[in-house]
Amino acid sequence: MEKKIVKEVLVSMEQIEKRCKELGAQISKDYEGKPFLVVGLLTGSVPFLAELSKSLDGDIEFDFMDVSSYDGTESIGDVKINKDLNKSIKGVNILLVEDIVDTGRTLNTVKKLMYNKGAADVKIVSLLDKPERRVVQIDCDYIGFEIPDAFVVGFGLDYNQKFRQLPMIAVLDENVYS
Ligand code: IMP
Repeated sequence: MEKKIVKEVLVSMEQIEKRCKELGAQISKDYEGKPFLVVGLLTGSVPFLAELSKSLDGDIEFDFMDVSSYDGTESIGDVKINKDLNKSIKGVNILLVEDIVDTGRTLNTVKKLMYNKGAADVKIVSLLDKPERRVVQIDCDYIGFEIPDAFVVGFGLDYNQKFRQLPMIAVLDENVYS
């Protein structure tokens, strides 16, 4: 018999689509026609970035970064860059796209890194936010949904690299861990 995967659906695909349209419209309005670079953090942000970008308007380019952060540190030096941006970001307005803000370490570090490299402005949009888990202060400009402190998968988010394809944000059933 197939194992039950989903314990509870927190956000449905319909809710995600609706929220992406709202966020896209708000972001496009806020940039007022100024060019900006959309930077997706691999791999979890990909479905969100794709859905959001359908509602983004303006002079936009796309790039991706892959970073892994090590637990227990807030230092820039301890974040490993697995894939860096393709072009210089000196003087560039950046919209940093993330799947979820948990402790805040990743976004805090990447944002600092981007300013160190001369970015003109860095705004952050994250599909999900787990405010109860915050360790490092980080200001997100746009949030899709606030969720409680639970481990979630789907729409880009993984458990051991799996379940990213689920068309919803869901809490995993305990039997998946066992
Ligand atoms: P932070 O640096 O602690 O904010 O971690 C952000 C990263 O942790 C995200 O990009 C995710 O890859 C991962 N993460 C945090 N919470 C979850 C979750 O509930 N499900 C899947 N991945 C998560």
